[in-house]
Amino acid sequence: MSRRHRRMDSLFALLFFVASLSTAAADLAGDGIALMAFRSAVGKSALSWNASVSPCQWPGVGCERNRVVSLRLPGTGLIGQIPVGTLGNLSDVHTLSLRLNALSGSLPTDLARCTQLRNLYLQGNRFSGEVPAFLPSLSCLVRLDLADNNFSGSIPPALNNLTRIGTLYLQNNQITGEIPELDLPNLVQFNVSFNRLNGSIPVKLRGMPADSFVGMPLCGGPLGPCPGEAAPPAGNGGSSPSGGGSKLSGGAIAGIAISAVALFLIIVTIVFLFCRQKTDAMATKSMDTGAAKPPEVEVALTDKRVVDGVGAKGAAVAAAPTVSPAGTGSKKQLVFLRNAPRVYDLEDLLRASAEVLGKGTFGTAYKAVLETGLVVAVKRLRDVNMPEKEFKEKIDDIGMMDHPNLVPLQSYYHSNDEKLLVYDYMPLGSLSSLLHGNRGSGRTPLSWETRTSIAMAAARGIEYIHSTSRTASHGNIKSSNILLADTFDARVSDHGLAHLVGASATSNRIAGYRAPEVTDTRRISQKADVYSFGVVLLELLTGKAPAQALLNEDGVDLPRWVQSVVREEWTSEVFDLELLRYQSVEDEMVQMLQLGVNCTAQYPDRRPAMSVVVSTIEEIQRSSIAARRKDQQQVFDDDR
Ligand SMILES: *[C@@H]1O[C@H](CO)[C@@H](O)[C@H](O)[C@H]1NC(C)=O
Ligand SMILES: *[C@@H]1O[C@H](CO)[C@@H](O)[C@H](O)[C@H]1NC(C)=O
Ligand SMILES: *[C@@H]1O[C@H](CO)[C@@H](O)[C@H](O)[C@H]1NC(C)=O
Ligand SMILES: *[C@@H]1O[C@H](CO)[C@@H](O)[C@H](O)[C@H]1NC(C)=O
Ligand SMILES: *[C@@H]1O[C@H](CO)[C@@H](O)[C@H](O)[C@H]1NC(C)=O
Ligand SMILES: *[C@@H]1O[C@H](CO)[C@@H](O)[C@H](O)[C@H]1NC(C)=O
Repeated sequence: MSRRHRRMDSLFALLFFVASLSTAAADLAGDGIALMAFRSAVGKSALSWNASVSPCQWPGVGCERNRVVSLRLPGTGLIGQIPVGTLGNLSDVHTLSLRLNALSGSLPTDLARCTQLRNLYLQGNRFSGEVPAFLPSLSCLVRLDLADNNFSGSIPPALNNLTRIGTLYLQNNQITGEIPELDLPNLVQFNVSFNRLNGSIPVKLRGMPADSFVGMPLCGGPLGPCPGEAAPPAGNGGSSPSGGGSKLSGGAIAGIAISAVALFLIIVTIVFLFCRQKTDAMATKSMDTGAAKPPEVEVALTDKRVVDGVGAKGAAVAAAPTVSPAGTGSKKQLVFLRNAPRVYDLEDLLRASAEVLGKGTFGTAYKAVLETGLVVAVKRLRDVNMPEKEFKEKIDDIGMMDHPNLVPLQSYYHSNDEKLLVYDYMPLGSLSSLLHGNRGSGRTPLSWETRTSIAMAAARGIEYIHSTSRTASHGNIKSSNILLADTFDARVSDHGLAHLVGASATSNRIAGYRAPEVTDTRRISQKADVYSFGVVLLELLTGKAPAQALLNEDGVDLPRWVQSVVREEWTSEVFDLELLRYQSVEDEMVQMLQLGVNCTAQYPDRRPAMSVVVSTIEEIQRSSIAARRKDQQQVFDDDR
């Protein structure tokens, strides 16, 4: 039975996918017309939008993939009622922020067509009418704020459809009735204060603080037991009174339970596929450049699919280096660096079973498992055409670098047609795959502590490189070059390679990390490294991958995007959802984001030196630890 349901899942997913493709026919011009109609209804004097330039350049409008995806007009003096056929036509919009205006009337019903909506901020207006019945169909919603309006009616029980919702603010309205049995697994912020609700607080909301329910005759949970309720029923999650009046047979109950589970699975799968289809595409592409294998099986599959369509281990091996010492007649050998253990030779390496880890800027990386069981990472360089002597000198420079936050180079091999570098293998893969690789169910969220310690470690590694000489730089800082030996042990890889390879290889470099002043990608200044590191910081905090101009149009210009959001909205709009639960360190998160913004300043001399970056992160880390300790009993901390 469950197998049949699974098959239905994928069929459903397919149908939804096709449906979403056909609606994607709408375009930016249509978005512009809809926005202009919105303007003439509620913002004639407030919005100075110039019809002869692209809507993407209008104040408050954000675009991605040539569609309008966000509209942020907080406190801009919008007034009146929003008609249908305006915002409802923005079918790709994911963020709508119209808070603190004078908008009134009921919400246009065709907002239901904005099925990509994730953030809807309408607080502080004069909206009235019933809490819109279409809200439950906006199944991607993560933040919904209708506070400080004049909404009436009751809270629709179908809000349970919003499985991704994290913030639900309804306070200061005229909502009546009882709070329905909401069971929203991701809900962290909830407020219905100062409405006209009555009755008891549903079981699943009883963990919320008392001031989520102020100003009404409610009972239960934080407000104390309801009349006739036993005092502290702590730990009794379900509300089924034993010995109740159920007349159903055990078999019937089991049947209902099974079909409920199946239905739930179907819905979750659809929502998941539907909401994530774009993010997935983005994450998959971002892994093109990932240089190391992520830890989880699911991610590993993605990774393999990405690499030139190499699906099986066998194919990967076939693509592995074909160095044949006998063939060329030379007796070239691996050259080991100073401290590296000489426990294998070239033949061992070539006999090892290899698996493609990823294609990076400078060539393909393999995981090689030697017959002895030793695992190393082998990088096969592309586009390196330099005499062995020069190559050796550059490698020796790399070999001199010795720091706990750099991935150590063990040995290298140089011949006319093959150049190999052998590194320590980092089992947990790259920061890039950790951040973008396995979004969705089954993913372990990346904690704030892990993120700060990764930032710290990477910053120290880069600071060390910069300390070796006044002009020394890494030249290719990005999240796929930050590898993890362990959860709290991050290291920078690929240092020095930018100086080895030809211009053609380096020009492939991901644009999203490149400082604006960089013209020759072989000569990256320390301040350009700082810029790239700033982008990595923003990536760590937002969970978004930066734009990769040459690979695809996806991804965002992270520095520009973060700065386009007003600072007060950072905590609610910019941060990775997985960081929502760390409310006690919000200040520290904002400081870290500010550091990222400073590092990505347009002018190099405005960017801090790496040593300053390191000490700032140290400070943020110290104050996070203090804040978290102070907040240890915080209620949200045990909601995992
Ligand atoms: C909104 O979309 C509808 C149907 O797709 C269309 O008829 C209408 O003209 C659009 N509104 C605007 C202002 O473009
Ligand atoms: C609108 O943009 C065009 C083209 O950039 C420009 O020539 C025109 O002056 C602008 N109009 C206003 C009112 O700013
Ligand atoms: C719940 O979400 C699903 C999937 O997005 C949608 O098809 C359905 O109409 C929603 N239910 C309600 C009551 O809106
Ligand atoms: C809110 O709506 C009620 C009717 O539901 C109306 O009587 C009241 O005047 C409205 N308040 C404001 C501030 O608009
Ligand atoms: C809540 O208020 C409504 C109308 O004011 C009333 O009919 C209902 O009985 C109340 N419910 C409870 C549980 O007090
Ligand atoms: C809920 O809203 C009320 C009124 O705005 C406010 O006093 C209270 O602190 C809020 N509670 C939470 C948990 O946000």
